[in-house]
This record gives sequence, C-alpha cells and structure tokens, in this order.
Amino acid sequence: MLLVIAQARSSVTPDAIAGVNWRAEQGWQLQGPWDIAAQDLFGLYKPLLDTQRGGGAWVIGQLGQSLDGCVATRSGDSCFINGPETLTHLHRLRALSDAVIVGAGTVACDNPQLTTRHVSGPHPTRVLLDPALRLASLVGTAHVFNDGQAPTLWLCDAVFEDQAVALAGASQVLAVPGLRGEGGVLQLQHAVTALRSRGLTRLFVEGGGVTVSRFLAQRCLDRLHLAVAPLLIGDGRPGLRFAGTERLADCVRPHSRVYRLGSDQLWDLDLRAPH
Ligand SMILES: NC(=O)c1ccc[n+]([C@@H]2O[C@H](COP(=O)([O-])OP(=O)(O)OC[C@H]3O[C@@H](n4cnc5c(N)ncnc54)[C@H](OP(=O)(O)O)[C@@H]3O)[C@@H](O)[C@H]2O)c1
Repeated sequence: MLLVIAQARSSVTPDAIAGVNWRAEQGWQLQGPWDIAAQDLFGLYKPLLDTQRGGGAWVIGQLGQSLDGCVATRSGDSCFINGPETLTHLHRLRALSDAVIVGAGTVACDNPQLTTRHVSGPHPTRVLLDPALRLASLVGTAHVFNDGQAPTLWLCDAVFEDQAVALAGASQVLAVPGLRGEGGVLQLQHAVTALRSRGLTRLFVEGGGVTVSRFLAQRCLDRLHLAVAPLLIGDGRPGLRFAGTERLADCVRPHSRVYRLGSDQLWDLDLRAPH
C-alpha cells in the first residue's frame, strides 16, 4: 500500500498494482482484505491521489506542533517534535508533490535537504520562498543550494532577480513580478501561479509557522495537515497565526478527520469543502 502511495506520481502505473482500483465515480478504491490500519492510511492519501488522477492541482500545508501550538522552541529547535511515523508521513507528502515549499526562516534554522529519504518515490523540486533574498549569505553553504539531490528554486520578487541569478545561477532562481505587494505583503497566489506555469502543480507547503499561516490567510491552501504531538513547549515559535474574528460563530470550522500516527494525532483539514 505504501508502495502505491509513493509511486503514485512516478512512472509506475498504479492500476498495475493489485488491490487498488480506479473507478471514475469513486476515485481510488482498495479491494481485498486490507486491515483497518491500511484502510485508514489509504483514506488519508486518497483525496490527494484522486485529485491528481483527475488531472487536478492542489496545495497542501502541514505543520508538526506541540499541544500548545508551537512548531519549535524559542531557539528554533524543531527536531523532532513529532514521532517517526509522522516523519515518514512528511516524506510521503514530499513524494506525492511536485514541489515542496519552505520559508526562509526554516532554511536558515534547519538547513533542510527536503528529500524523500524515508520512503520510495521521487524528490520534489525544493522551493525556497524568500522574496527579498534573506538567504543570500547561505547560498554557498545551505544543502538545498549545493547538494544536487533535487532541483532547487529560489523564489524571489522580480526586483531581486539579477542579484539572485548572480549568486545562485539562473537555473536555481524563479523571480516573480509583484511577489511583494503593497507594503511588502507577499502575494502568494502569484507564487502558486508561477510554479504552476513551470508544470509544478502539486504543491506542499512544509513550513515554518509564518509561511503556512500566510498561505492559509490568503486562502491558498486546499488542505492542511496538523500533526499534534503530546508535548508542551511553552514560549516557543508559534504555529498558525492569522487575523481571526471577533465572534466564534465566524471562525473557520473546516471539515476534518483525525488519524493516529504513532503517538501523534494528525488532523486532516479540508479547506475547500463547504462547511
Ligand atoms: N514543526 C514543523 O512542522 C516545522 C516545519 C518547518 C519549520 N519549523 C521550524 O519553524 C521555524 C522557522 O519558521 P518561521 O515560521 O520562523 O519561518 P518560515 O515560515 O520558515 O519563514 C518565514 C520568514 O522567515 C523569516 N526569517 C526569520 N529568520 C530568518 C533568518 N534567520 N534568515 C532568513 N529569514 C528569516 C523571514 O522574515 P521576514 O518576513 O522578516 O523577511 C520570512 O518571512 C524554525 O525553527 C524551524 O525549525 C517547524
């Protein structure tokens, strides 16, 4: 089953794998004696697999957080809030995506590789959302610019294009006109459109809290996975933060399902379903 999930976006035809069938009206279906855990896991990925089989695009965000809503300690330590099952889930999402997007703060703090080391499946293109080149001093050292494991795109505002190309080379730069809107506010739909025009249609926003919150606030996410771990961090770096409402009745109450991943609870929020 995991093989099916990891290979769903590669050249292997999922239809060829016994026990999983496609029906036009119902999407991917499991057939045969799958145990409850396998059925549950399949249910978690089915919405993404169905959309991609139908030729559709999606944007999914994910955050691993403590019970008190932090994604890292105050010094930026986030390895590892979640357990190994959630780490595997994270890599599975990467394998299902054309591109994984992270904010500059995450690159600066974690020096991530953003590959699919824990599952089979291709590495996504690594997109560093950095409108004004805050990562300029890290181009020579950060894994994503130098390890050659997967393509990297430094996503910046077009006014910084020349500087970015001089530092990282044209193949690693995606300069977007108007990425920084009035008052410096990021225009994330411009970023999504620019990535789609490069054929990157299945997008995974992996962090940190600021970046996922911005995508959520600008209604650029179709789904959000929140993996809640049983620990309390205290005055750490916050997860979701966005301008809310005065009245509880006006709050976002998305359609949701909960899955157990080891000792973590994974909330799968469908932000497009009517509620
Ligand atoms: N638990 C999780 O799921 C998860 C996932 C990813 C990352 N993390 C953790 O989240 C933290 C980073 O997230 P975040 O929300 O602070 O930022 P982020 O969303 O990764 O990036 C957004 C902001 O990074 C800022 N930034 C802050 N410090 C920076 C630096 N030293 N160099 C370059 N840019 C910097 C930029 O600020 P300006 O707007 O001011 O330019 C940018 O807007 C890290 O501690 C990382 O370990 C956790």
